[in-house]
Amino acid sequence: MAVGGIPCDSRKNYAGKFTCKVIFACVVAASGGLIFGYDLGISGGVTSMDPFLQKFFPKVYRKEISVQPSDDQYCKFDNQILTLFTSSLYLAALLSSMTASRITRGLGRKVTMMFGGLLFAFGAIINGFAANLLMLIFGRVLLGFGIGFANQSVPIYLSEIAPFKYRGALNMMFQMSITIGILVANLLNYFTAKIEGGGGWRISLGGAVVPGLIFFVGCFFLSDSPNSLLERNKYEEAKDMLRRIRGIDNVDEEFKDLAKASEAAKLVQSPWRDILSSKYRPQLTFAILIPLFQQLTGMNVFVFYAPVLFKSMGFGNNASLMSALITSIVNSCATLVSIATVDKYGRRTLFLLGGLQMFVCQAVMTISIASKFGSSGSPGQLPLWFSAIVVVAMCVYIAGFAYSWGPLGWLVPSEIFPLEIRSAAQSITVAVNMIFTFAIAQVFTAMLCNLKFGLFIFFAICVVGMSIFIYKLLPETKGVPIEEMTLVWKYHPYWAKFVVDKNSSPVMGKLELII
Ligand code: BGC
Repeated sequence: MAVGGIPCDSRKNYAGKFTCKVIFACVVAASGGLIFGYDLGISGGVTSMDPFLQKFFPKVYRKEISVQPSDDQYCKFDNQILTLFTSSLYLAALLSSMTASRITRGLGRKVTMMFGGLLFAFGAIINGFAANLLMLIFGRVLLGFGIGFANQSVPIYLSEIAPFKYRGALNMMFQMSITIGILVANLLNYFTAKIEGGGGWRISLGGAVVPGLIFFVGCFFLSDSPNSLLERNKYEEAKDMLRRIRGIDNVDEEFKDLAKASEAAKLVQSPWRDILSSKYRPQLTFAILIPLFQQLTGMNVFVFYAPVLFKSMGFGNNASLMSALITSIVNSCATLVSIATVDKYGRRTLFLLGGLQMFVCQAVMTISIASKFGSSGSPGQLPLWFSAIVVVAMCVYIAGFAYSWGPLGWLVPSEIFPLEIRSAAQSITVAVNMIFTFAIAQVFTAMLCNLKFGLFIFFAICVVGMSIFIYKLLPETKGVPIEEMTLVWKYHPYWAKFVVDKNSSPVMGKLELII
């Protein structure tokens, strides 16, 4: 059967086993997702803790306590300085992902990952001891640098070392770690919010040092990916690593293709300029649009602001953190579904099913919130049935994201870029992801205040648009070896016209000796 439109006789089938070595490397590298997830999960809870608001954002605090049940609930958290706390990190991550592209290319994936863990751990310490707003923001900027480095290097490392038949599942362990990070952070917030004396937020913010160090120390035990070693002319080491992760001696066929790709990659002097040429149009399009669309699903509204959102709807303090906890458990569990199915049913199926599920839930949430809050935003007493509908719709929506746009938003870009532009293109993906994570974090409270329940309509329309885009333009990439990916464009009815024949790439003298 043709996969990704590629005829059977053009497809490769490299030999190799599913080894413990590869599983270990993937688990360790994927732990980089913990730092991203931890941070995503911690800020929402911390910004809803009164002692934290009192210390750093007294104006928001005063506004919050003066709100009456009859006031406009949509607007009580609308404060741009408070959102700057959440979003400053994403700006830093955006900047660092650009630098990280040079490091991943020049020094390898492993070094970049280690930088990521270390910077994150430093940022966590500064935040834990923060005495003023400046320290708080500085700490967050360091966290952002760490995340930029990790998100730039981890997905490509995972896609490079995974055997192509299991690439989807192994790459998605990154997303699994993100969701575990979010879950742990929410759990911690739930308990620290109750600490007498109000210093709980320090534990929540400082606790980020733990995932940072887990990731940093874990990376000592990793070897770089064969692709990255070849990129830096370490031929013997690359072949040896390939043998070890594939668990067989004869890796010649795969090694030859990796080597060919790496030689072609070396001809590219300036990946940032080359990526703009029309032959990379499909990859560039997805590098930009996949992370953009991932953010326009609206998922991060729940990730960052679940406690705030629940509070706005009249749930008490405890109940709102509790609901955030439930939603993050759903997020982790549904990610397992995608790990189990992505290499069987393919990326397109999950994208489309997840899109449909999110759309239906957004519609339900819009109707229920509109019917209760109207456009004045004063709900009066909230009945139990209402809370139940909103929480269930939210959970089903989150599950839809967690088996589709969440993990696929990292998997698909990392597997479609050819080696010569992989680092640069992944940086674009991370940067776009961060810009829009930032934008959502920054404008959400203002959007809620102005669009009211229309906020969910906005995201629902986006979900429809992105599903059509995937349906029309994304070729299936399951089961296609990473360095063979150019074929999916070549056989795609729309993208074929952009792709020139890569068979003309130069062949390497020195390598034939090793092969
Ligand atoms: C996204 C994050 C999101 C998380 C939720 C990730 O794939 O990039 O923005 O918060 O999934 O699980």
